[in-house]
Amino acid sequence: MSSDTLTRPDDVALSMGHIALHYGKAEDGPLAARLMTLLGFTETQMLPLPNGNFYRFVVDNAHFARGDGIIYLSALTEAQMKLIDAINENLGVGTEGEHPAVQGMRDALATDPEASFHFGFLVKSLEELEERILTLQELADSDPELKGRVRIGMNRARPGDAEVDARLDASPLFGNVTRFAYGSAGVQVFVITDILKASQLGDHAILEFDYVFPGREQHILSVVEL
Ligand SMILES: [Fe+2]
Repeated sequence: MSSDTLTRPDDVALSMGHIALHYGKAEDGPLAARLMTLLGFTETQMLPLPNGNFYRFVVDNAHFARGDGIIYLSALTEAQMKLIDAINENLGVGTEGEHPAVQGMRDALATDPEASFHFGFLVKSLEELEERILTLQELADSDPELKGRVRIGMNRARPGDAEVDARLDASPLFGNVTRFAYGSAGVQVFVITDILKASQLGDHAILEFDYVFPGREQHILSVVEL
């Protein structure tokens, strides 16, 4: 197995092409796009549409003209909004008569953000990941647009690798983290936001950002450990 986690062979038969993300109302487009930029994605196109801007992002500039590594971002369609409203109404979401399954799902996600649908991205530099997420944490506390709209969860690498453990102990981001990943030699950051809508109830989305320490034959993204 190659220990270089970031080399992407060009002759692969199939690669991850794109994901389509949505924001809620038309006027939320610029804020959703701002969040994507803060998360490290590069905006390559913005098409103004009456029902909300359509954006194309890439995970890295190398994908600018490619057919993979793309994230499309647009407003929810009216049909989906109506369905989300109907689901919420029928389950009594936020009311006294709320269906118990709703809280059950909230609890499951609070325990483990990977308990349901989410997207994961691999980051090349731990320092870059730390800096980006520290900035986002600050903005989530103080920025008028982002305050209360972004929550961040983190998992450290499973302990046992002295070099990894020391680096994470000294980390301004991971130093105090007490949750551990399902594996070694890597970290996970979860960005949970209601600016994007990709959940069963249409109220949030979860994006994951991972870093893997170089040179390890086994790491969080190669072998899952329970
Ligand atoms: Fe994941």
